[in-house]
Amino acid sequence: AEYDVIILNGLVVTDTEMGDYDIAIKDEKIAKVVARGDLKDAKAKKMIDAEGGYVMPGGVDGHVHLQEPPLFGKGSSADNYETGSRSAVCGGTTCMVTFAPQKKSEDTLLDTLHATHEKAKNNCYIDYSFHLLVGNPSERALSEFKTLREEGITSLKIYMTYEALKLDDGQILDVLLEARKQKITTMVHAENGEVIDWMTKQLEKRKLFAPKYHGTSHAPIAENEATFRVIQLSEFMDSPILIVHVSTPEAAAHIKSAQDRGIPIYAETCPQYLFLTKTDLDKPGFEGAKCVCSPPPRESEADCDIIWDGLANGTFTILSSDHCPFRYNDNVNGKKTCINDEYPNGHFKYIPNGIAGIETRLSLALGANRLDLKKFVELTSANPARLYGLYPLKGAFVEGKSDADLNIWYPPNTMQEFSLMNEMLHHNVDYTPFEGRTLKQWPRYTLLRGKVVWDRENGGLLGEKGYGKFVKREASSLAKPRNHGEWEIYEDGSFGFS
Ligand code: URP
Ligand code: ZN
Ligand code: ZN
Ligand code: ZN
Repeated sequence: AEYDVIILNGLVVTDTEMGDYDIAIKDEKIAKVVARGDLKDAKAKKMIDAEGGYVMPGGVDGHVHLQEPPLFGKGSSADNYETGSRSAVCGGTTCMVTFAPQKKSEDTLLDTLHATHEKAKNNCYIDYSFHLLVGNPSERALSEFKTLREEGITSLKIYMTYEALKLDDGQILDVLLEARKQKITTMVHAENGEVIDWMTKQLEKRKLFAPKYHGTSHAPIAENEATFRVIQLSEFMDSPILIVHVSTPEAAAHIKSAQDRGIPIYAETCPQYLFLTKTDLDKPGFEGAKCVCSPPPRESEADCDIIWDGLANGTFTILSSDHCPFRYNDNVNGKKTCINDEYPNGHFKYIPNGIAGIETRLSLALGANRLDLKKFVELTSANPARLYGLYPLKGAFVEGKSDADLNIWYPPNTMQEFSLMNEMLHHNVDYTPFEGRTLKQWPRYTLLRGKVVWDRENGGLLGEKGYGKFVKREASSLAKPRNHGEWEIYEDGSFGFS
């Protein structure tokens, strides 16, 4: 046969185009995207009839935590590379960028990178890369940025909070300067850790320990201040950043205002800031713990609406899951993971921060019917690929260049709606914060490099662990400094770009 797979009768949607096209796949790549009917005489080993359903590039999730040690309070990640990537593929995500976490006590980044490669190797259902999580920007670590680039790692994440990870402003400047030189994009967790610690002490004095006080302790001011501060630091260094998991209208406004001034500031938000609010933290018993993440779900649906607006108007570059999986009940002793001898009824500060969402990201966002379809593809696939140096290998249907990674969705309004239950998901977590939500879409088929890895109606998960491979990344095609020269301090006392 001429082709490996032909997909007929799809409504093909990329971030720039939408129309009735047929797609041919050969040797793991998109070979042809042609007007409907133009492949009617072509031969392929496999034909798939999309029956008018959307055919979109596979999901690219740029924010995923797997197999990490305890970094965000108690508890290690509940998902490893196998279970996390399995969950991803069953929800239509075909490429993920996870974190390789360097601890504060470690001097080097390369050991971290190599150890993370070992965790992922032969275990993934989907293609993957890593962001280096820099916990200690030592001289040695900074000198290794160049090697990271050579090894296809073109992004880092840094933190302004969490005991185990927090960098001070000087350390942030060190990272931004070196990242600029090596054309690396820096992701920033922008929350003021001291404000959070101070608020936590105030709550403890008043004996307020319920999950909803997690939201109180991570007050909006902590996020707003840190967001504004790191925008200033980034502008000073002319080093592009992406602010991750933005949750407040004020932080979004700081970002928008910097973007309007032409500063290369990018931003991410996540489904938890579109679908959850502080009411979800205030469920009976300790159930609110299931919606604890940082930043926390915010005040009201009006806040969520403003975040949706930011997706539509371009403030947000990407929509990621921030899949950060922890179990509610420990699978060894059956007890709630956030309870200990001192606080038998639980204390919000011992709830590990993070929620699972790699499998539900695409269906929740598409089914909400609030985003233009092309915008949906841009935010969940094309832009994460561009931002992290994977475009057009991922996130696109460019003939001969793009991997044949795609989702075939149900034709509009034809899927039997269902109510989400955790038992339908494929992660290793005993709950989903989105339990009970009505879903109107789910990928019907998912292909990864031309192979059907998910067929919802015939076998479900068909992919195999180990088929997913590491992808070397290029520099970002979005995030570039404004000035061309090196940042310098001159003898006359001035500083700027040579
Ligand atoms: O709730 C979250 N997001 N937990 C920690 C992981 C992160 O991205 O900071
Ligand atoms: Zn190496
Ligand atoms: Zn974070
Ligand atoms: Zn995260």
